[in-house]
Amino acid sequence: MIPSNILGVRQSKIKFCFALDFSVYFSKFACIIKINCYNMISPKLQDAINAQINAEFWSAYLYLSMAMHFENEGHAGIANWFKIQFKEEQAHAEIFMNYLNSRGGRVVLSPIEEVPVKWDSPLVAFEHTLAHEEKVTSLINNIYAIAEAEHDYATCNKLDWFVSEQVEEEETARGLIDSLKLIGDNGLALYTFNQELAARVYNVPAPLAEK
Ligand code: FEO
Repeated sequence: MIPSNILGVRQSKIKFCFALDFSVYFSKFACIIKINCYNMISPKLQDAINAQINAEFWSAYLYLSMAMHFENEGHAGIANWFKIQFKEEQAHAEIFMNYLNSRGGRVVLSPIEEVPVKWDSPLVAFEHTLAHEEKVTSLINNIYAIAEAEHDYATCNKLDWFVSEQVEEEETARGLIDSLKLIGDNGLALYTFNQELAARVYNVPAPLAEK
């Protein structure tokens, strides 16, 4: 028979070990919760990224509308350039959607507003493209500013690719505007311009290709 005082010591030892084990497990659990909480995107950034997803889809819709317009006008090369632009914008939306999901956020797809359907000339369409890309740049910069204020460096890191992409988009649009200004009313030069734009091909953007 085991003396009760020995049993008492054993029981208290068991209780102590159980309490110790439990506290270790609890602290590990609390640590996991804490890490997950810190890793999750804030509601403010989530809203800004959801708005950007909508803006990217609106951009895609705008460029698809331009493609359809120029196809209708007999400028198949210019239409091709805008069709690729349409695909790129959808890819941009997808990059943001993937990112939001990877951060435990929720993607909310809202309605895409109407886009224009007609442009007076290729020059007017590319000027519209540049103005639109400048607007998109300011939207990206705004999300960057929120991420920086929240010390959300993962989002800043993701946005770095978009910052460079916007520089490229604006530069391309400016170059095409310059070419069209030089072309003026020269039909042959416009024909060549159209042929050059027909050669554009779609490349999957790096953040999607890497996935
Ligand atoms: Fe998604 Fe043209 O910027």
